[in-house]
Amino acid sequence: MALKIGRGANAPPFIVMDVIAAANARAAALPPGAPRVLRMEVGQPGTAAPEGARDAVRAALLAGDPMGYTEALGRPSLRARIAAHYQDWYGLDLPARRVVVTTGASAAFPLAFLAAFDPGDRIALAAPYYPPYVNILTALGMRPMILPAGPETRFQPSVAMLEAIDPRPDGLIIASPCNPAGTMLHADELAAIARWCHREGVRLVSDEIYHGLSYELPCATAAAFSDSAIVINSFSKYFSMTGWRIGWAVLPEDLLRPAECLVQNMAICAPHVSQVAAEAAFDCHAELQDNLAAYRRSRAHLLRTLPGAGFPDLSPAEGAFYLFADIGARSQDSVAFCARMLQEAGIAASPGVDFDAARGNRFIRFSYCGPEADMREAASRLAAWR
Ligand SMILES: Cc1ncc(COP(=O)(O)O)c(C=O)c1O
Repeated sequence: MALKIGRGANAPPFIVMDVIAAANARAAALPPGAPRVLRMEVGQPGTAAPEGARDAVRAALLAGDPMGYTEALGRPSLRARIAAHYQDWYGLDLPARRVVVTTGASAAFPLAFLAAFDPGDRIALAAPYYPPYVNILTALGMRPMILPAGPETRFQPSVAMLEAIDPRPDGLIIASPCNPAGTMLHADELAAIARWCHREGVRLVSDEIYHGLSYELPCATAAAFSDSAIVINSFSKYFSMTGWRIGWAVLPEDLLRPAECLVQNMAICAPHVSQVAAEAAFDCHAELQDNLAAYRRSRAHLLRTLPGAGFPDLSPAEGAFYLFADIGARSQDSVAFCARMLQEAGIAASPGVDFDAARGNRFIRFSYCGPEADMREAASRLAAWR
């Protein structure tokens, strides 16, 4: 008799992870002396966790800290430090009780979705988008509503797009700076969207994981414009701590206890050792600013050179460490294009289909958080390959 398989089993793959595996395989199969594979597909800093974070962990381990469970919402000292970060960066007075520490931003998504939405609810988001939003919503029986966005709105949603949705959606997910386009909602645009959502009873989920990585304008937080928004953030990007699996969410008052109960049952708490590291990371801005300066130089170099290397149509790239390139004039099959680029130029990048099922075939995403020298060499190789 056939056994039942749950709807979660239908979650599609996160194709970037498959691209990483292909680049690893290619790198492993290269003959001696062949040019290295240059990695522009991965969305993670190549740098270690900041030194102060590593020192704090070393000290705690040497002191024999038992590293037991913490409170479900996180260590009180870390929650207070995160709340203080909102004062430091945004001038916002945020009570520490609204902060929940999570296992990366990734764990905050199902937490937020389960706390705020029901199966069948309609959650709007602009395409191109970070694929797990859609895949997690789908696995939870919720219905993503894709709003196609293009260069006119810097690949971001707008109030006009939201006004056109009838009936109103139950929720909206935004990301600024976003992955894959690296574009931002400017403070006035974010404020307008956050206020519209609050007024219309649409629960806003704002993914702010790339805050700290912006090159032209400072990042604004949705928490400044709406008390009903859920804000998600992480130590993975600016703080260079991807594998530590540590992030946080700022929750509205009405979701605090529901979220606490969900964490108690689903995770107990985020990893204790990573909470120790995370708290110390807030005192490491000098080192983290050096990382930012390197991304800034790589970004400037690529924005200068890629147009002449056959990629004239690039997203404005205001933040994060991504460039989203329209390759429509060269190919309508971004998967095949990326495979050929890996094979012939030894450069791994991500096909746009992962981020936009409908239009992604004419886009690819370059990530420029790798070593600066690699990013420069990639630009030269692409110019020679075109
Ligand atoms: C937009 C966005 N949100 C969330 C995540 C997941 O981050 P974390 O490592 O904190 O789980 C990523 C990772 O690339 C991302 O790009």
